Amino acid sequence: MSSKPPRKFFEPLAIGAPAPYRDLPVRLERMIHFFPPHIEKMRAKAAEIGRQVDVLLGNLEDAIPAEAKEAARAGFIEVARDWDIATTGLWTRVNCLNSPWFLDDVTEIVAAAGNKVDVVMLPKVEGPWDIHYLDQLLAQLEAKHAIRRPILIHAILETALGVDNVAAIAQASPRMHGMSLGPADLAASRGMKTTRVGGGHPFYGVLEDAAPDRPHRTLFQQDPWHYTVAKMVDACQSAGIKAFYGPFGDFSDDAACEAQFRNAFLLGCVGGWSLHPKQIEIAKAVFSPDPAEVRFALKILAAMPDGTGAVMIDGKMQDDATWKQAKVIADLARAVAA
Ligand code: GLV
Ligand code: MG
Repeated sequence: MSSKPPRKFFEPLAIGAPAPYRDLPVRLERMIHFFPPHIEKMRAKAAEIGRQVDVLLGNLEDAIPAEAKEAARAGFIEVARDWDIATTGLWTRVNCLNSPWFLDDVTEIVAAAGNKVDVVMLPKVEGPWDIHYLDQLLAQLEAKHAIRRPILIHAILETALGVDNVAAIAQASPRMHGMSLGPADLAASRGMKTTRVGGGHPFYGVLEDAAPDRPHRTLFQQDPWHYTVAKMVDACQSAGIKAFYGPFGDFSDDAACEAQFRNAFLLGCVGGWSLHPKQIEIAKAVFSPDPAEVRFALKILAAMPDGTGAVMIDGKMQDDATWKQAKVIADLARAVAA
């Protein structure tokens, strides 16, 4: 028996559609901008920042001290009640399921501001059972408080067990919006030997071959997150949901943040987290398609109006598959321009 529930929130697929996610409208979510809602100054700036970002998220979990958890929840509710920016998503990251705060986070937020919140981000998801639990809880609370549209779920992929179960998590509920890589918790869960939040590591690389004229051999750094991001993207795209890179913690190294986000974008992620205001612009630039790529994609679409056949453009072979690649880029460019 299949454990996959029917998808209820999206239109049925058109016959012959290449893949489910291709037919969904592209809603821009290039950055999920985190703010700490227990800090009054941050709440005061929420609407102003909200107009600059695609998604604003009130963080209740890690980085919020235990003694400020209730204040953060109340602060988020205050921001959500006043929220009127239709073009920006309003999300919250609640505390994890086995924490003392999770139940009150979800219950109080849906009761007080359930019609304002688009997505609940659930940390430390280990398997589909975690999503099923939140799914049912949201269903009960939505019914009780007459919430007008379903609140979606975004999972953080940040435990070794979660990575093992990533496909089942992605398919666990029609409420699934997407998934973010959580490199900090994942590093700890896996026993990786790092103290960094995302990004590369100077020790993780391959040494170039020895040669008589090369007494000092260079270590070429590699991306320690490549495997997990690729696995997450496959799981998300197969389920018709979105994949995101998570946090990049070194605020002193914008170039490295940009490079990490760009790897994720190329591999299929649609956005990343911004934890510092300057990462908003980095994410906006990286997760918007490159103008030269857009021009080339539009040439492909124009040369193959029905998406079939084979043509040569600038010496490069194009066919049905590159037409689909071009459509991904052109659709995103259209959403950015809108
Ligand atoms: C995010 O929550 C992370 O652990 O990286
Ligand atoms: Mg985490």
